[in-house]
Amino acid sequence: MNGDRYKSIVKPIEADLSLFDGRLTSYLAGDSPLITSIAQHLMKSRGKRIRPAILFLSSRAAEFFTEHTIDGSLSIELIHTATLLHDDVVDNADMRRGLETVNNKWTNLISVLMGDYLFAKAFRLMVKTESIELIEAISSATERVSIGELRQVEETSNYDLSEEEYLKIIADKTASLFAVSCAAGPILARQDMKIKNDFTLFGEKIGTAFQIADDLLDYVGDPRVTGKEPGNDVVTGKVTLPLIYSLRHGEKSKSREILKLLGNGISKGGFRTVLNYVIESGGIDYASQRAAQIAQEGLSVVKGLRDSVYYNALLGMVDYSTSRTV
Ligand code: IPE
Ligand code: IPE
Ligand code: MG
Ligand code: MG
Repeated sequence: MNGDRYKSIVKPIEADLSLFDGRLTSYLAGDSPLITSIAQHLMKSRGKRIRPAILFLSSRAAEFFTEHTIDGSLSIELIHTATLLHDDVVDNADMRRGLETVNNKWTNLISVLMGDYLFAKAFRLMVKTESIELIEAISSATERVSIGELRQVEETSNYDLSEEEYLKIIADKTASLFAVSCAAGPILARQDMKIKNDFTLFGEKIGTAFQIADDLLDYVGDPRVTGKEPGNDVVTGKVTLPLIYSLRHGEKSKSREILKLLGNGISKGGFRTVLNYVIESGGIDYASQRAAQIAQEGLSVVKGLRDSVYYNALLGMVDYSTSRTV
């Protein structure tokens, strides 16, 4: 699933990522036959590793890499994976990373419990970083993910949702883990508050742009590339930026029709009607522009970093993850 573009961007941190992968595989092996087979399933199509990649690139670019950096990144990736196992139950999703979701291949119960297991494993790694400050930062980011997911459930099928509220929800559910991935470098390297705040803000912005890009892909993504089925957000009543914009700026009578369709509960077939409406109303273009703009705001915070192979790769990674087609 990770294409050539991704591979060339992460080339400078290939050794870090391979150490990361080796540690992850051995860390998840052997606690029970069921855990081992789910862990193997999760490792088969491993995901993009965007959070660890951003953590490694930003840490290398600023020379903040320490002996605890890998443990910090593993903890964050395990929390991310745990939230996906829970999220796929919440969203009733069938496909993830090009494979069946754990809830689909096994059951909802198993997906939830395996998510809990991954959280527990992540906590232990977090402690191994020996940084109370990082433990605090990862814990509050995890709390924000839950708040964001719960807020999103509360706003299910609320077609009056504002762009501002939407941005707040995605900041909590997604940008929080990006922010802590970027903050981990300066925290572990004991940098001053200004640097920690800058790195946090950088992560917050690119995480927000990343989720807007993901929401766009739920409209226009190719499942062979994204590994996820499009249309799931519309079908489950998740109101995201392309639709928010279209409902406010689209042609009035068409918007009323779409609202009626959405209100009656939409099938996978009805998704095409909503998709065409969103394209015609400019919702796709608008959301792409917003993602690019917010990513740019993030980059402007770290523009003072010295030019290096890592810094250039970091720029490439921001572009890849916020204007991605995978
Ligand atoms: C999926 O994240 C969940 C979102 C926050 C959109 P990723 O797209 O990083 O998932 P993987 O790890 O690469 O599968
Ligand atoms: C991100 O939202 C999920 C989490 C933060 C756990 P989505 O529901 O859009 O993620 P995907 O599309 O299922 O990966
Ligand atoms: Mg989901
Ligand atoms: Mg999504």
